[in-house]
Amino acid sequence: MRIAAILLAAGTGSRYGTALPKQFVSLAGRAVIRHAAEALLPHVSLLLPVGDAAMLAEALDGLGAGVIRPAVPGGATRQNSVLAGLEALDRLPAAEKPDLVLVHDGARPFVPAAVTRRVIEALEKQDGAIPCVVVADTLKRNRDGLIAETVSREGLVRAQTPQGFHFPLLLSLHRAAAEAADATDDAALLERAGRAVALVQGDEDNIKLTYEEDLVRLERLVGPALMPRT
Ligand code: CTP
Ligand code: MG
Repeated sequence: MRIAAILLAAGTGSRYGTALPKQFVSLAGRAVIRHAAEALLPHVSLLLPVGDAAMLAEALDGLGAGVIRPAVPGGATRQNSVLAGLEALDRLPAAEKPDLVLVHDGARPFVPAAVTRRVIEALEKQDGAIPCVVVADTLKRNRDGLIAETVSREGLVRAQTPQGFHFPLLLSLHRAAAEAADATDDAALLERAGRAVALVQGDEDNIKLTYEEDLVRLERLVGPALMPRT
């Protein structure tokens, strides 16, 4: 089985406060995207970053020789960026084309190896698989600062990445859905097509950098020993 990963880094990070897109922000002395690439590399034979080629070349310099490919430009939405990555994988010579593809948020630096392994294993039986964590808190709907209602959390989980799929299936679903490219994850395209997607155990530490306060939580996970000297 050939496994490729698409590493997404083409977003602008509008919910994050800095001009530098969040996936290039320094976390414990390395770019967030570099942590994400290091976490995925042991699991794949090919890693394709999507985003600005010069910034990615610098952030990933010296990593994964022969495995990390030159970046391809992304699109206006996450879904557009995934399609750009899938099309680039489809242009590879037949001998290099993947059987399975993992799609991972470049802003999610610390995916544990066990999570990635569970996703890949689930693809032996399912078309797609995603890591998730349970929702522990009581859920409320906010209407202008007042509670509108309590929403049942029964059966609700929070979706993470890497999400894994059989490559030809994900490519064809993305091509068919390219007109309305509003999906915030890839599993949504399989759901709409009536395909089964396995839920596997994710990890609370598999945090996506979304707001600036998330950087503090992520740095705490690294621990003081690995923090850069100032
Ligand atoms: N992403 C991408 N191309 C886009 C939008 C998002 O490659 N057009 C990537 C981001 O770089 C990120 C991942 O998809 O690694 C998850 O998206 P998200 O956390 O929403 O990042 P942004 O869209 O950049 O942030 P925001 O929604 O706050 O603008
Ligand atoms: Mg976004």
